[in-house]
Amino acid sequence: MSKTFFEAVKGRRSVYAISKESPISDEQIQKIVEEAVLHSPTSFNSQSSRAVVLLGENHDKLWDITAETLRKIVPTEQFEGTAQKLSSFKAGYGSVLFFEDQAVVKQLQENFALYADNFPIWANQSSGILQYVVWTAFAEQGVGASLQHYNPLIDDEVKSTFGIPAEWKLIAQMPFGGVVTPPGEKEFQPIEERVKVIK
Ligand SMILES: Cc1cc2nc3c(=O)[nH]c(=O)nc-3n(C[C@H](O)[C@H](O)[C@H](O)COP(=O)(O)O)c2cc1C
Repeated sequence: MSKTFFEAVKGRRSVYAISKESPISDEQIQKIVEEAVLHSPTSFNSQSSRAVVLLGENHDKLWDITAETLRKIVPTEQFEGTAQKLSSFKAGYGSVLFFEDQAVVKQLQENFALYADNFPIWANQSSGILQYVVWTAFAEQGVGASLQHYNPLIDDEVKSTFGIPAEWKLIAQMPFGGVVTPPGEKEFQPIEERVKVIK
């Protein structure tokens, strides 16, 4: 077992208190996301995953869009909590948006009708793998990140604001930045209830 690999796996946590001080450069951030997109597996090697890195005012804009969208639907008395949560994401350095290209999914469904129902599921799973690789690679570089899901509420506004192709389906948002407060201890359920080895 590679020690360094599992150190990286264990080092990835949800970090909610993040800052605009990134421990790595924009070029390193771009490289991490590019390497993750290139080398994360996809079903049938379809390479359906897409990622958009938002930095600077574009990152801020994402969380302003999310706040404005939620303000319209969250009851007033609950909005204060929501707004605080969203400003903690905006306090970060950037966000990665994860998409799956539905044009690719549709083409696979046409080409391999037998698996038609599975392709959207596999596209989601592929995106999950990609999200995990980015998240873990960030953690290894001292970048704190969490995984958020304000889709599909924000999809239209995000697409029109950032010029995202219509066929790209938003799957997840990952705000990241400098670690302000490291995450606390995590509780684990007994491993023997979760893993069975059958000999
Ligand atoms: C598929 C998936 C969806 C998640 N969605 C959210 C989310 O919408 N918002 C959030 O704050 N955390 C989300 N999380 C983070 C989990 O709550 C978190 O990973 C879990 O509590 C374990 O904590 P850790 O990330 O520190 O190990 C998600 C995690 C996974 C794997």
